[in-house]
Amino acid sequence: MVKKIKACVFISGNGSNLLSLIKSSRSYKFPIKIELVISNKKNANGLKFAKKYSIPYKVFSSNNIKIFERKSLFILKKKKITFICLAGFMKILSQNFIKNFKYKVINIHPSLLPKYKGINTHKRVLDNNEKCSGCTVHFVTQKLDSGKIILQKKVLVKKNETEKSLRERVLKEEHKLYPEAIRLIFK
Ligand code: GRF
Repeated sequence: MVKKIKACVFISGNGSNLLSLIKSSRSYKFPIKIELVISNKKNANGLKFAKKYSIPYKVFSSNNIKIFERKSLFILKKKKITFICLAGFMKILSQNFIKNFKYKVINIHPSLLPKYKGINTHKRVLDNNEKCSGCTVHFVTQKLDSGKIILQKKVLVKKNETEKSLRERVLKEEHKLYPEAIRLIFK
């Protein structure tokens, strides 16, 4: 049996990337085991996937990032978690928090970084008439969407593309890219 890295996924919303990571991590060959899900939103849809797959979860809904980090850190240390995946998590973590994790903190972003950091990426891509967009998995630093890139996937922008259609097509690629990036990190 492969000894798996103990991981936690942070979410704020829909949780489709969480679901793809849960599915991948059920394979015995996948390098991480998701031992905890943390949400900063009590109504996050993604929590239903934690429940469905019997993964322990916590909601820390304080808007104060220091309080959120303190509460998260307490349980993460208790569970000996050494790796964090952000999946649609809408807060910026401090360097003090990030440095606690031996195998670091990673994130998925729906653009070809360093282009289109931040929110509303698909709208900005279309407004600028870009020919392609995509998604990126990267290490997290205190600077928004700026850490070292692990893996990227390009998605061509189609004629008559809408924000919705681009979001859906990029998200489909995200679901494959995130597990692939994790396999790559621990290879
Ligand atoms: C994804 O597009 C992700 O790249 C971005 O937020 C979205 C989250 O989607 N950071 P989901 O919650 O995983 O469905």
